[in-house]
Amino acid sequence: MFKASDFGPDFLWGVATAAPQIEGASNTYGKGASIWDTFAKRTGKIKKGHQLDVACDFYHRYREDIALVKTLGFTVFRFSISWSRVLPLGKGPINEEGIRFYHNVIDECLSQGLIPYVTLYHWDLPEALSQLGGWTVFSINADFNEFVMLCAKTYGDKVKNWIIINEPFGFTSLGYMLGVHAPGETGLTNFLAAAQHTAIAQADGGHILRAEVPNARIGTTFSCSEIIPYTSGANDLLAAKRVDCLMNRLFIEPALGMGFPTADWDVLEKFAVSHSTWRHVKRMTFDFDFIGLQNYFPLVIRYNAFIPVVQAWEVKAKNRNKPHTAMGWEINADSFYNIIKQFASYSKVKEIIITENGAAFNDKLTNGHIHDEDRIAFFKLYLAALLKAKNEGINITGYMVWTLMDNFEWAEGYQARFGIVHNDFKTQQRSIKDSGYWWQQFLGAQPRLL
Ligand code: BGC
Repeated sequence: MFKASDFGPDFLWGVATAAPQIEGASNTYGKGASIWDTFAKRTGKIKKGHQLDVACDFYHRYREDIALVKTLGFTVFRFSISWSRVLPLGKGPINEEGIRFYHNVIDECLSQGLIPYVTLYHWDLPEALSQLGGWTVFSINADFNEFVMLCAKTYGDKVKNWIIINEPFGFTSLGYMLGVHAPGETGLTNFLAAAQHTAIAQADGGHILRAEVPNARIGTTFSCSEIIPYTSGANDLLAAKRVDCLMNRLFIEPALGMGFPTADWDVLEKFAVSHSTWRHVKRMTFDFDFIGLQNYFPLVIRYNAFIPVVQAWEVKAKNRNKPHTAMGWEINADSFYNIIKQFASYSKVKEIIITENGAAFNDKLTNGHIHDEDRIAFFKLYLAALLKAKNEGINITGYMVWTLMDNFEWAEGYQARFGIVHNDFKTQQRSIKDSGYWWQQFLGAQPRLL
């Protein structure tokens, strides 16, 4: 078994979180509504009708939670800034109470000796901007830039590690094409327009931080999944290629100055012509210091003529008798290794940080303890694959666990539990799971302090 020190003395070990999933206080202390607040109230699309009003109550408990990150032995705490907490309408008047809250969180990290990694956009667009068209309209870019500028000027002297956007493919596809996430929009036109403005935003954000924050380390994150064709037949190979364009290439290639991967998929080419995407190639480019990769599953893809546009279909893990998590996501550490290699093969990717990786399981509380052996086994497998990639010379400098504690898992509500700390949503009692203790030992922190 490998040790944490095998990853090198400077390797960053962290936990990742996101504002809407943990903070609560969703309509108090001057915060404006985000699209997730309204989506949860309006649509009935969240399992069991769960809401974000309280979540993990991190807004009131951030001190204890940050202390927990320290106790578990991590050196990085990744969290996001809720745009509508600092700018309730998305632009214009500033909510000083919201500004103060993030000062407090950052100061708490620094006083505990933790490095804050701040995500600017983790899917919670201000509702007021959504009313104007959200990510589908070009004006969103000016509004996003106002928000980035505010954060850079306010926190830039204390925060040096920035992540512009969390998984652009995740929120544009689920929220603007499939309608299962906020704001619940559907269709290819909405999706491609949102994709374009998001690709511009990720680069614009980088340029603003570079100009405003001396010594900033600027990254952005991408979801990534190895795409495995179901057979080696031509139809399946082409279907897999289209899915790869969408899921892995759509946002990193513009950031690297390559534009959208139109050459490999004519649908994207049509969009490029009708929306003059080519004119924005330069504006979508930014020289990121690091690329954040977030991996949860590979996808096995089969051609299916009945699926509009992409003509591809996922063959689920359970139908292939493969081990999977409570989300049905295949556990396959080789695919983690393969997708890291795929992203590392872009010559302009200078540094990779795994900014999220983790798994939901049906944890069972036994006498106040969670013996989540399955989650521990998952981390061991995935870390071994990561070490293999690193030892082959890929510049991987950090790994962040998704996630610190069970939280609001988007459309799954509070049912899907990804935490290494259990949360009782009635009492807000945190209990370290065995996986949390495993991390504590792995990282060489004091065992079983809590
Ligand atoms: C997101 C997280 C989410 C996790 C598990 C990632 O796509 O960034 O917010 O909770 O996956 O679904």
